[in-house]
Amino acid sequence: MQSLQEQIKQYEQEINSFTPADATELENYRIKFLGTKGIVKAIFGEMKNVPVEQKKEAGQLLNTFKQLAEGKYDAFAHLQGGNGKQDTGIDITLPGTAIPTGTRHPLRMVENEIVSIFEKIGFSVATGPEIEDDWHNFTSLNMPEHHPARDMQDTFYVSQNPDWVLRTHTSSVQARIMEQGNLPVRVICPGRVYRNETISARAHCFFHQCEGLYIDKNVSFADLKQTLYYFVTEMFGADTKVRFRPSYFPFTEPSAEMDISCTVCGGSGCSLCKHTGWVEILGCGMVHPNMLRNFGIDSEVYTGFAFGMGVERITQIKYQVNDLRLYSQNDIRFLKQFQSI
Ligand code: DAH
Repeated sequence: MQSLQEQIKQYEQEINSFTPADATELENYRIKFLGTKGIVKAIFGEMKNVPVEQKKEAGQLLNTFKQLAEGKYDAFAHLQGGNGKQDTGIDITLPGTAIPTGTRHPLRMVENEIVSIFEKIGFSVATGPEIEDDWHNFTSLNMPEHHPARDMQDTFYVSQNPDWVLRTHTSSVQARIMEQGNLPVRVICPGRVYRNETISARAHCFFHQCEGLYIDKNVSFADLKQTLYYFVTEMFGADTKVRFRPSYFPFTEPSAEMDISCTVCGGSGCSLCKHTGWVEILGCGMVHPNMLRNFGIDSEVYTGFAFGMGVERITQIKYQVNDLRLYSQNDIRFLKQFQSI
């Protein structure tokens, strides 16, 4: 016990007076005192020679000594760089390598915005298939075979099955929702649609729509107008004006198209509104009784309104994109511009 005390005293003096100047000196100290063949280990090895009745005292002595030896090392660990426990050769204080993140596609951002505006007033989201059958895309929507309204939309047919088409509008989802027969319904249906058009700045063979459908007892044209007016003010700002023009769609009666006051020139005339002060944004109307009947809904009890808008169109107005092709070219310079929006 006595020789242990003497040894430790000597080493303590050495440790107390030691001040490493650099990492090498510190490392030499570590090897000498704290290494696997170092002094601390060796002294602990001597415990076995200490008589039983002195073991407790010796244990305390050794632990204090060990703490001193380790404490000195930790106090100068900064010389090693890193966190000091061990020199990993990595400077964790350096800034990291930035991993570039992608951006949301502008159409998706606008689609999300449309959906969340309608969600706030109790609409929920519904989707349907992009390969659709004739019934859901045309016939059930009051467009029987040979109906001239079918010519309004140039259709892609699927060669494997004469009954299948690439849906030409999201109104097909309306049909699928009515088919489920859970009334009342209040849905917004975003999705991609296809038409056999030559690709240009103003037309594309695929684009995106958002359909809305609301069926309940006592739904009127006033509800339709107010709902769409709410949408427009949320989307384009409280000053935006709307106007409804009579129109024709086979699945609604009466039908209308809705224009908004031009968000670029405020109505004074510019290229977006073709100097009329108004831009068309959607088609709408009261669900045709024939369509309700097609799905076994009593048109004497239930009425409803529907609308359909082009997501590209809304995006074009909101961000003044003047060429539809930009949306699908994946040009990073185009997409990046929406990063901070
Ligand atoms: N499906 C029409 C189109 O693609 C848009 C539309 C018009 C949808 C009137 C509707 C509606 O639900 O009521 O041009």
